[in-house]
Amino acid sequence: MCGIIGYIGNKSAEIESVNLLKNLEYRGYDSAGVAVILDGEIKVTKAEGKIANLEQLIVSTGANIGIAHTRWATHGKPTEVNAHPHISDNNEWAVVHNGIIENFEMLKQEIETNSGVKFASETDTEVIPQMLEYLSTSHQSTISTFIHACNRLKGVFAIACINKNIPDTLFLAKRKSPLYVAINNDEIFVASDPICFVDKANEYYTLEDDEFCKVSLNCVEFYDINGNNIAKSTIDMKDFEQFKGKEQYPHFMLKEINETPTVLNRIMKTYRDSLGFGKITKEVMQDINKIVIVGCGTAYHAGLMGAKYIEKFVRIECNIYIASEFIYSNPIIDKRTLCIFVSQSGETADTLSAQELAKSKGALTVGLTNVLYSVLAKKVDIVLPVCAGPEIAVASTKAYTAQITILYMLARYLQNIKFNSLFDYIAQIDTLANLFTLPNLQPIQDLSKELVNQKSSFFIGKGFDYVSAEEASLKLKEITYINSSAHPAGELKHGFLALIEDGSYLFVIATDEALLDKTLNSAHEAFARGAKVVLITQLDVDTSKTNFVYKVLQQPKFDDELMPIVSIITFQLLSYYTSVAKGINPDQPRNLAKSVTVE
Ligand code: M6R
Repeated sequence: MCGIIGYIGNKSAEIESVNLLKNLEYRGYDSAGVAVILDGEIKVTKAEGKIANLEQLIVSTGANIGIAHTRWATHGKPTEVNAHPHISDNNEWAVVHNGIIENFEMLKQEIETNSGVKFASETDTEVIPQMLEYLSTSHQSTISTFIHACNRLKGVFAIACINKNIPDTLFLAKRKSPLYVAINNDEIFVASDPICFVDKANEYYTLEDDEFCKVSLNCVEFYDINGNNIAKSTIDMKDFEQFKGKEQYPHFMLKEINETPTVLNRIMKTYRDSLGFGKITKEVMQDINKIVIVGCGTAYHAGLMGAKYIEKFVRIECNIYIASEFIYSNPIIDKRTLCIFVSQSGETADTLSAQELAKSKGALTVGLTNVLYSVLAKKVDIVLPVCAGPEIAVASTKAYTAQITILYMLARYLQNIKFNSLFDYIAQIDTLANLFTLPNLQPIQDLSKELVNQKSSFFIGKGFDYVSAEEASLKLKEITYINSSAHPAGELKHGFLALIEDGSYLFVIATDEALLDKTLNSAHEAFARGAKVVLITQLDVDTSKTNFVYKVLQQPKFDDELMPIVSIITFQLLSYYTSVAKGINPDQPRNLAKSVTVE
């Protein structure tokens, strides 16, 4: 949801800023832009669409300070005029912003009425440079103008800005959207994600909410909301050592799916000892009478799976909510509730608001997140690391697999605590991690070619397999634009059977022996209406029961309860190859962004 960059150094500010920006394209790709200061003037270059379009326009001018932006449009269409950076009417200030300014209409009216300035764009962001111009005469220093202007903004923001009269300094502000600064010997980097600093700096600063920064090659100063100086310490970049870009893969998504075995092994290392669930002790659990899991999108599906594991093995009530629903549902939670917030990025706005609400009601909050420097990780009482390593593709794959693995382990851990049992889930997952291999690609690629021309598809399953069906369906729709839906197998004849017609693809996930016959019965009903049934199973199914099945995608055999971790990979790959076959870039599906930092 928008990425911002700042750069000061001895290299070309245009080239360096845009190169840094490429690391943030997962945050949005509706438009991109860069502003530099050259000969005392601000020079802006913008382009609609992806960063590659901007790259074609930029030339190295010799400027050595710049700001840049990649946009996921919220206010105002994804046009060039609405692209960032935005500049003040007097061309003195240029601003890039990630977030939403909620009171921009009111501020815009005030500025237009009092100063006669006319706004050029439809964006909420433009109010920031115009406000800086509007307030600049009434403040003694530029930093005090900047802080004062930001304090008038309501909403969510990470801001980087330059002033043409101070051509060696970047001004930064943060409230709820992420912002980081790294300083090298002769370069300064600012970014929405410290991943941009890999191979550029050894340490970085994190801005916290309502903190400001003024940074030049000679000096870095941090301020609080009242303009008082604050001291900050740096964070080591060592957590990013593993990030090596796309390597030999054509897309991040394929690379990330292929990393699943490595991720499972990393989970084992992290959770083998008490470092993993160690803070969720027997004493802590004695006070808990309910568990609630909250997330969005794929993280919500991981939560659905987790809730099923927890209720099955721990026999404690476990409710699951979509974060945006949780916030407005006046949820029944109190200090005896353990709330688990699942978020790959740890910066999803709805999930963060849900965590705040749970905390305010006294619940114990746990964050299952892949980004240990994220806002979520800082806000929760207990952090459970997802251990997936950086996930860049918009479609979540290895993080989902990791989340459901950890939630499975958590359920088994809580079961041991509650029933004084010694179930060796560590050995079980260790075996999975060691024997896990990716499925045979040929049948998946063959099927992907058939799906290319499909307008819709359907997924069914029972129990855990129903949750896999939901996640498989989301994966397919978000990167192939095929309208797909998932249903509990038993629901077929209660409505969606009406949609089945000759040639409809019905994906049937059946990995639980006890539910196999019932699931196949439902599939048969769809077959009778013309569906092409594709069965996904590891079970040795009697062929007399499956003679109506069009294709079987045979899965490797693991314990039934671990099959959700295994079977989802087939669907991740199927979606990936279908997306590629349709000529879509699976890493950057239309209209979406990886991190959704506004509600
Ligand atoms: O970073 P989060 O896990 O909080 O993100 C939640 C969803 O936005 C995310 O899972 C989204 O549904 C993905 N595009 C799914 O592949």
